[in-house]
Amino acid sequence: MQNHSIVFFGGKGGVGKSTCSAAFALSAAQNGKKVLLVSTDPAHNLEDLFSVRIGNTISRLQSHLYGLEIDAGEESKRYIEGVKENLQDLVHAHRVSEVHRQIDMAANTPGADESALFDALVNIILEQTEHFDLIVFDTAPTGHTLRLLSLPEMMEAWIDGMLKRRRTVNENYSQLLNDGEPVEDPIYQTLMKRKQKFVEARKWLLDKRKTGFVYVLTPERLPIEETSRAVGQLDQAKMNVNTLIVNKCLPEEAEASAFFQKRKQQEQQYIQMIHEQFKKQKKIFLPLLAEDISTQANLRHISNYL
Ligand SMILES: Nc1ncnc2c1ncn2[C@@H]1O[C@H](COP(=O)(O)OP(=O)(O)OP(=O)(O)O)[C@@H](O)[C@H]1O
Ligand SMILES: [Mg+2]
Repeated sequence: MQNHSIVFFGGKGGVGKSTCSAAFALSAAQNGKKVLLVSTDPAHNLEDLFSVRIGNTISRLQSHLYGLEIDAGEESKRYIEGVKENLQDLVHAHRVSEVHRQIDMAANTPGADESALFDALVNIILEQTEHFDLIVFDTAPTGHTLRLLSLPEMMEAWIDGMLKRRRTVNENYSQLLNDGEPVEDPIYQTLMKRKQKFVEARKWLLDKRKTGFVYVLTPERLPIEETSRAVGQLDQAKMNVNTLIVNKCLPEEAEASAFFQKRKQQEQQYIQMIHEQFKKQKKIFLPLLAEDISTQANLRHISNYL
């Protein structure tokens, strides 16, 4: 995993994505890599883990290790304000309020936050890969992440549609107003730039030498099923999950009582299932610790496995 320049951590809610991505980032930083740990999770907990205030600017967590938290809602707001400002100069004064109303409506449609989040992600990939040896993304629970990662394709298709429409409009305009000479269209150019960015980011995402996908799960039925679905969907998008982290495995010493013996037996069956269902992936097994991983000592303990 540490050979990649970008590593995404995905998985069902609560399985340990944030913990494992932080432990992994920490381990890479201790091996001398300059690492950026990005949280796209609305319930940020990097601050608790590192006892450092992290925000939407890159902050130093430890030697070689930097953190950044992206808030989808905030990104969305900032993005909308930007769009409004840009349009200010293009739209006639008496239409501004109507246009703003339309933009606000668009901002409240489902997927708007994710799309802004995706923009932020693309920017990080394009701007920060040259400054860091490794960028680790701690993502929000499965459903979101999957949609997020398949977005580039959707976005490209969507932008292509828009570009085509703009082209037709521009051709009509140039016939009408400009004696057939091409008209300058700032919106067309903005769309084009956006598209180029997505194409560029996708190159990173699809390059197996550069980008790795790690899935975290616990040895239980539902996380296994969900992981199986997710791995399949990511495979279809040509983003292969190379590593599974099977977290919260009962430790050896848990076998003393009849209760734990039984749990452990059941867990063995699930671990067997994981071996059978995920033949292609490397598997890393992490023990369940006696307490939450909220201290540096615990985090270091876990990072030794990664
Ligand atoms: N191996 C472990 N042993 C003990 N506690 C663990 C272990 N791994 C994670 N935890 C604890 O489980 C809880 C959930 O972990 P974490 O926040 O990393 O999950 P997550 O997948 O990021 O959750 P979310 O989906 O909400 O973002 C935390 O309280 C964490 O300290
Ligand atoms: Mg999390």
